[in-house]
Amino acid sequence: MRSIQVSLAERSYPILIQEGLLGQCDALRALASGRQVAIVTDETVGPLYEPRLRAGLEQEAASLLTVTLPAGETHKTWESLNRIFDALLQARFDRGCLIVALGGGVVGDMAGFAAAVYQRGVDFVQVPTTLLALVDSSVGGKTAINHPAGKNMIGSFHQPRLVLADLDTLRSLPARELSAGLAEVIKHGAIADPDYLDAVDRDMAALRACDPAAMAQAVARSCEIKADVVARDEREGGVRAILNFGHTFGHAIEAGLGFGQWLHGEAVGAGMVQAADLSCRLGLLPRAAAQRLDAVIERAGLPVRAPQWSYEHWLALMSVDKKAEQGAPRFVVLEGIGRASLRRVPEAALRETLAGQA
Ligand code: NAD
Ligand code: GLY
Repeated sequence: MRSIQVSLAERSYPILIQEGLLGQCDALRALASGRQVAIVTDETVGPLYEPRLRAGLEQEAASLLTVTLPAGETHKTWESLNRIFDALLQARFDRGCLIVALGGGVVGDMAGFAAAVYQRGVDFVQVPTTLLALVDSSVGGKTAINHPAGKNMIGSFHQPRLVLADLDTLRSLPARELSAGLAEVIKHGAIADPDYLDAVDRDMAALRACDPAAMAQAVARSCEIKADVVARDEREGGVRAILNFGHTFGHAIEAGLGFGQWLHGEAVGAGMVQAADLSCRLGLLPRAAAQRLDAVIERAGLPVRAPQWSYEHWLALMSVDKKAEQGAPRFVVLEGIGRASLRRVPEAALRETLAGQA
């Protein structure tokens, strides 16, 4: 078993990575021991994996409750969040309870937010079941729901006590979802580790076929990169913003098309192409490096062309972004593969990128 530590003083926790962890993880059993435990999942993941998780916890938990939410980005809402609170209150769960998020990033973000605010905060565990959640959203403690005006606009920082990454769950993941997860894998290489980007490119066929060895390597390296950034800047006062490479454009695409039209990872794929193009126009990144990155994104099965909207429409969408300063968007740009920074950019360069000029 691989164990990667997210080092945050008293909020530190391990990410445990192994196949077959779901029903037999001692660390999870120890956390659940004698407590009220709520598994939060969705209608797709629940039937596949909740029984195995439940079986592993039944002997340990004082009581066990499952909350099953509708699946997908369109349901990352107040209504779904309230269903969690309703269930917890109805079962008289107290401040000592434990919430276990079983699912992709949508379930993880919502269950994490519920844990952050239920009775002013309770413990939670992430059990990610999509590639995107395994390599990104389950780590780092960002939790949120969407607002119709903007992505992840209502949320909180709340670190899990444990991340339990069972690679077996990826076997049932549809190919489109797997590609969406590869967007965040590519992002980690692009912002932090050129050798990793090379390895992902080389292993692309194996990754898309969900080869266990290639997948274990990618999940572990992505988690290392994310854990390192989060340890340096838990609440995004500075360097953590680089994890948002491609996301200013990507979040605008998600909101502009309507949540759920493009998957988050798909929007980030096209958004990274735009962010790399912008970096070239600012003279920070050689065009050849951007083209290489575009090719990797395309080979991952992701869109490389963003929707065609007017500059004004893009700007309106991008001004509802947590990195915006007084309504002006800021962008994560590449200063070479493996080096990223956050900045405001001149209007001319942004206009050219959004117009999609080569
Ligand atoms: P998701 O949670 O909607 O899951 C995608 C779909 O796959 C869903 O329909 C789900 O039911 C299904 N599914 C999940 N696991 C499965 C499995 N093993 N087999 C078959 N089907 C399965 O989407 P996602 O891509 O996992 O996450 C996207 C969300 O994550 C976005 O809302 C994004 O904002 C968020 N996110 C958060 C962070 C963070 O740091 N908190 C980072 C990146 C992304
Ligand atoms: N996904 C961006 C972050 O965790 O900071």
